[in-house]
Amino acid sequence: MLSSNNQFSALKNKQVLLTGGCGFIGSEITKQLSKAGAKITIIDNLSSGKERHIRGLKGITLLKGDLSDTNLVKKAVKNQEYIIHLAALPFIPDSYHYPMEFFEVNVNATINLALAAIKEKKVKRFVHISSSEIYGSSRYSPMDENHPTTPHSTYAVSKLAGERVVYTLHKEHELPVVIIRPFNSFGPNITQPYIIPEIIGQILKGRKELTLGNIHSKRDLTFVSDTARGIILPLITDGVIGETINVGSERAVAIKDLVKIISELMSKDVQIKIDASRFRPYDVDSLICDYGRANRLLGWKPEVSIADGLKMTIKWMVNNKIELTSFKGWTSSYRKDHNDKT
Ligand SMILES: NC(=O)c1ccc[n+]([C@@H]2O[C@H](COP(=O)([O-])OP(=O)(O)OC[C@H]3O[C@@H](n4cnc5c(N)ncnc54)[C@H](O)[C@@H]3O)[C@@H](O)[C@H]2O)c1
Repeated sequence: MLSSNNQFSALKNKQVLLTGGCGFIGSEITKQLSKAGAKITIIDNLSSGKERHIRGLKGITLLKGDLSDTNLVKKAVKNQEYIIHLAALPFIPDSYHYPMEFFEVNVNATINLALAAIKEKKVKRFVHISSSEIYGSSRYSPMDENHPTTPHSTYAVSKLAGERVVYTLHKEHELPVVIIRPFNSFGPNITQPYIIPEIIGQILKGRKELTLGNIHSKRDLTFVSDTARGIILPLITDGVIGETINVGSERAVAIKDLVKIISELMSKDVQIKIDASRFRPYDVDSLICDYGRANRLLGWKPEVSIADGLKMTIKWMVNNKIELTSFKGWTSSYRKDHNDKT
């Protein structure tokens, strides 16, 4: 994995609070910050994050608990200079089943953290992690930060609400906010059954015919070490407070082509079987990032190729015998559950 930790030497001995630091992107950020010698406090309720993702890393205090716990958050924020807020419910299909919970975590708990951060006068940066999903399907490509926002899932709506809340708190209370909108990330320590571990997982199970949904949708793929670097850089970069910045690679791959690349890397010959029940009710056709602003303001660009990143992801899944939750259906159970109760 490429690493650019020397560029984070300014964070040596600095206090950094990271929410969701045991998760997929969070654990890579923890690793990069730890190598830079930062003093890291993590709040994580371990709902999807794993302690083993940060095991052995130096300079870490893990507060196991929920972001909605006001006292815990107050304690965690005390004396922090830098905050990175990643904790969220991130898996879109889950939001069809639990839309209220997505707003509880992605919006209300975010407000809880931001209000505590406003009171802690030492905070120099509050880097809030949004998502490219807030854009909805592309009206033009690549998509810059001025692209209209028409979210296609309650997850995406909750992420849009979350970033608007922190931006408004920045304007009202001078919270030093930077909003990062990552596009699809992949790599070791993935916690959710996103499309890449799904494809690798089906091949590892020995399937010759992969069962997939919409194979024509295109996603912009960024290796997790690059995403993490794009999230840490705003902590140490001047002139970025109040900015919203895309972090994505502009390398869009259709799911059917992804299957071809992965199966070739794994030396397996596979076919695709379309399962209509896997189609998302309101899918996003294409997300392709214009990372010009990240490049101008942060000096960021992707460093890891898709093939190299996929090789590291496959190796991690094979070595750790990773099996993510198998597919349970995209369609919402909310209506049924709701009707049952009333
Ligand atoms: N992975 C991607 O491709 C991607 C793309 C765009 C945006 N994002 C955003 O990046 C962030 C991290 O996503 P990820 O893919 O690493 O997911 P993840 O599920 O691995 O990480 C989320 C972390 O937050 C923790 N968490 C969840 N709810 C919590 C709560 N109430 N209190 C405390 N901790 C809680 C989880 O245990 C986990 O460690 C999210 O905000 C997500 O919306 C991810």
